Amino acid sequence: MDFFNYKNGELYCEDVPAARIAREVGTPAYVYSKATLLRHYRQVADAFKPIDATICYSVKSCGNINLLKVLADEGCSFDVTSGGELFRSIQAGGDPKKMIYAGVGKTDAEIIDALNVGIAAFNIESEAEIENIDRVAASIGKTAIGALRINPDVDAKTHAKTTTGRKGNKFGVDIDRAEAVFEKYRHLKHLRIAGLHLHIGSPVYEIQPYVDAVMKAQALIDRLTALGHKIEWLDLGGGFAVNYRNPTQALPVTEHAKALLPLLKDKPYKIALEPGRYIVGNAGILLTQVLYRKSSGSRQFVIVDAGMNDLIRPTLYDAYHFVWPAQPRPDDVLETRDEDRKPADGEVVDVVGPICESGDYLAKDRLLPRTARGDLLAVFTAGAYGFAMSSNYNNRPRAPEVLVNGSSYRIIRRRETYEDLVALER
Ligand code: LLP
Repeated sequence: MDFFNYKNGELYCEDVPAARIAREVGTPAYVYSKATLLRHYRQVADAFKPIDATICYSVKSCGNINLLKVLADEGCSFDVTSGGELFRSIQAGGDPKKMIYAGVGKTDAEIIDALNVGIAAFNIESEAEIENIDRVAASIGKTAIGALRINPDVDAKTHAKTTTGRKGNKFGVDIDRAEAVFEKYRHLKHLRIAGLHLHIGSPVYEIQPYVDAVMKAQALIDRLTALGHKIEWLDLGGGFAVNYRNPTQALPVTEHAKALLPLLKDKPYKIALEPGRYIVGNAGILLTQVLYRKSSGSRQFVIVDAGMNDLIRPTLYDAYHFVWPAQPRPDDVLETRDEDRKPADGEVVDVVGPICESGDYLAKDRLLPRTARGDLLAVFTAGAYGFAMSSNYNNRPRAPEVLVNGSSYRIIRRRETYEDLVALER
């Protein structure tokens, strides 16, 4: 559930009309709802409270420091995956001593920065990285703490580009080699490997892959314990899916918790989670305006002012984002966002952007209310991996980000200017 609803015939974010934001800030624009962000964070935190799990918001999904601050103030920890994300999270007031540093290709400089700010732990992806972290930590006289990322070889049944827990993916160490790795690196002087990490993919719509992964990890922990290794925490990664297509597409996190808590309770190790999408996915929309209409062959195109540089998920993953006018005709005012919703006066269109690529679309073959130049469209569930993956392709200044809180809003990242585009090239 989120706080993007149609009231008085038009779309509101909390108590602010989307059209008002578009008028005052321009389009395209990302609009976030603070209440939705908090609601989803609290859902996750509450669901896993019985086992006192540490929730590390995955900063890569949407990293505006203002959003991070909202979460940090709630007691949320962070999962960072680059020096930039670490910097950003500290700027937001996050405590590095509660942060986890992940990523398959950490540089020496990034490792040093993370050690110097006292990062809680590294999620480590390979034997080569183990040796390097030990060496780098020694060079600055520190001792690092890490979790070994294992590849549990389970099928998360998600898009090929975002599945991460199968044999042959670049992530982690194959689970059947984990004991040998723990044995080999038992006595490092500057790195203590005390945890296990896994992340099976994103978005994951089913419970069973998590259950399978946890059971495999726990069997491994038993074997490691028998070998005399003390595992202090198990990090289950992120991946919980959200409702892109209809209100019941994704399981509420409580359902995941219901399946996982019995497996995880009363264990001598802590549990960590790294959700990104579940917390921020439905907390953000992209507002865009219709520029033109045209047809080619039998296809109708609605050309809007947001493109694949603003939201690349449809292009990159064939991702579905629900799209609807922010100020529809009275018959088409929306009660629930459902891909099966038939407009009173509809047409099948491709909603495309201004970028010089045929892959530049936000929606394809979509039955939408008929729209005209100047109409405002909302692209929903764009909070996660929306702005975060946006770029300046075709030299388009990136969209602003706006945070709504009740009946007011604030620009939390201004629209880029043409000067910004060339600023680093002088
Ligand atoms: N932990 C690790 C190690 C990850 O690699 C990821 C996401 C997460 C946590 C957070 O996953 P989440 O809870 O947000 O699903 N750009 C793609 C998704 C890529 C996910 C990358 N890793 C998309 O737009 O669907």
